[in-house]
Amino acid sequence: MLQDKKTSVLFVCLGNICRSPTAHGVFEQMVIEQGLNQHIRIDSAGTGDWHLGKQPDSRTIKAGQQRGYDLRHLRARQVTAVDFDRFDYILAMDGQNLSNLQLLQPGHFTGTLSLFLPYGQGAFDEVPDPYSGGAEGFEQVLDMVEQAAQGLLQHLREDVLNDASSS
Ligand code: 4NP
Repeated sequence: MLQDKKTSVLFVCLGNICRSPTAHGVFEQMVIEQGLNQHIRIDSAGTGDWHLGKQPDSRTIKAGQQRGYDLRHLRARQVTAVDFDRFDYILAMDGQNLSNLQLLQPGHFTGTLSLFLPYGQGAFDEVPDPYSGGAEGFEQVLDMVEQAAQGLLQHLREDVLNDASSS
């Protein structure tokens, strides 16, 4: 039996226009393809406020499109302390963003605040910021995010969603 309550996941980077919208779109598509969108709620946000209301960076949109992800509907927003009341998992793209989230974290938060990449089997813990680099950086973000997203979904299936097939 799947639980009635949705499990919620918030992906966080700095600007919310490159890494976290990529994770948002990739994970959302995976969740839909596996028929779990009634059980998992997904969002993304940035610790910075420079790009509020904007679409993902055009390079993020283009790289995603080339792998079949449509990220055009996403809009940047800034993470706030209220997000700790609204999400079970708050997953940071790098250590700097994790540190900033730890400063914002209220004492009563009982969810998971951690780095995102360790959910995958890759060699790295952080998704490098691609904003000031070339197109290959956006490809690397997708490679890392796709791998970690698989691991995260497996984790949610086994430990949270209480799927009968895995218990
Ligand atoms: P993101 O990339 O954190 O992956 O969205 C960045 C986007 C914008 C800036 C920095 C990083 N910026 O400084 O404007």
